[in-house]
Amino acid sequence: MTDFAVRPVTEDERRSTFDLLGRSLHSNRVGDETWTRFGSSWPAAHKFGAFDGGAPIGIASSFTTEIAVPGGGVLALAAVDGVGVRADRTRRGVLTAMMAAQLADFAARGIPLAALHASEPTIYGRFGYGSAALGKTLRVTRPAARLHERVPVEGDVRLLTPEEAVTEIPGLYRRIGLSRAGMIGRPAAWWPIAHERLAGPDGSHVVAVHSGPDGDDGFVVYDTVDTRTLDAPDEGAVLKVRDLHAANPVAGAALWRFLLSVDLVSAVHARHRPVDEPLAVLLTDHRHARTLDVEDDLWLRPVDVAAALGARTYRGAEPVVLAVRDRMLPGNTGHYEVTSDGVRRTDAAADLALDVDTLGMLYLGQWSATALAQAGRIEVRDPAAPARADELFTTVTAPWCGTHF
Ligand SMILES: CC(C)(COP(=O)(O)OP(=O)(O)OC[C@H]1O[C@@H](n2cnc3c(N)ncnc32)[C@H](O)[C@@H]1OP(=O)(O)O)[C@@H](O)C(=O)NCCC(=O)NCCS
Repeated sequence: MTDFAVRPVTEDERRSTFDLLGRSLHSNRVGDETWTRFGSSWPAAHKFGAFDGGAPIGIASSFTTEIAVPGGGVLALAAVDGVGVRADRTRRGVLTAMMAAQLADFAARGIPLAALHASEPTIYGRFGYGSAALGKTLRVTRPAARLHERVPVEGDVRLLTPEEAVTEIPGLYRRIGLSRAGMIGRPAAWWPIAHERLAGPDGSHVVAVHSGPDGDDGFVVYDTVDTRTLDAPDEGAVLKVRDLHAANPVAGAALWRFLLSVDLVSAVHARHRPVDEPLAVLLTDHRHARTLDVEDDLWLRPVDVAAALGARTYRGAEPVVLAVRDRMLPGNTGHYEVTSDGVRRTDAAADLALDVDTLGMLYLGQWSATALAQAGRIEVRDPAAPARADELFTTVTAPWCGTHF
């Protein structure tokens, strides 16, 4: 059994906990120069470390931001952005202890939702996180793929210098806004490591911006990888989309039109795109845009179930009473009546019973109550209730996060 203590990370422990995270994720250790430039993206605040003696053996980091929920509301969010345990100390309860400390901290700070991207889908369900928004990977073949003639052409796309990419994109992301449920705010500390390192003066990524009648309204960050080999000299490059956001469909289509116009590229790859992004129907030929994969993207953990359920809107349907079970935050365990006018705690008998991780799956509208019941994740006590819950929770637009963290 390993002896360890979980406590907040101090200012002096930022570098050692960052290195520990890097090693657990099999990344190369960052050099001193990189740390000096980008270490501000790893502040001590909101990090819990597990320590054996003085040495860190585990890290669970988060930053505080906001997330859009169905109906357009925005809620405070704890975004869990770094979790790792030293390879010689795994499977001894270190993560479990850090998750308990972190969740208690989120609850004490009144943060209603927590979210993460999981390295492996089997890790976080036990801590109450559910797979809440999917993302698809697209491969669009060039030069065959073309936008069809009725797609509106408006505005202009220009490339930014690396310096402009650093200064202009954070403001543009803010102006575009959190238009889909699941999108999150990007705080100042997010940008240096996640954007500037890639698209700034020493990065390899290119940034293009679309301007419409009201000014800049979309951007894409991408890089290109040469895939030519001796055996395939004509293969060309693959253009990899890292980050693409648009304030409206015209700007989104214009950015795709631009990406498909870049010369010497044989394919455009985009990972973690919205599952309902209509690229295939923008093209003259569907088959030039293949969905290669659909995978779990955002995992969501209701920390304050009443506040989270109360913050989203519901469609018109008869009410449903949910019995929610939460092992780690037992204050959430109870019955909640969900109606088209809002949510309240109740003593009424439950129609459906579910664990809090399944509520995370239901919350943004990615999964239907019927599907979750059929999969055995929701216990059905009133056979008519899954259909009512479907009506209440359904959203027209698929949820999507669109931010790496
Ligand atoms: C994932 C990781 C943080 C787990 O840490 P840990 O201290 O070993 O976890 P715990 O000992 O608290 O395990 C808790 C439970 O989760 C299970 N579990 C932990 N990691 C798991 C994994 N990768 N796959 C499946 N189950 C896992 C354990 O078996 C244990 O189950 P039990 O309670 O039924 O016995 C650690 O393995 C790690 O650092 N991996 C590499 C980095 C990584 O993947 N980080 C996550 C980034 S999102």
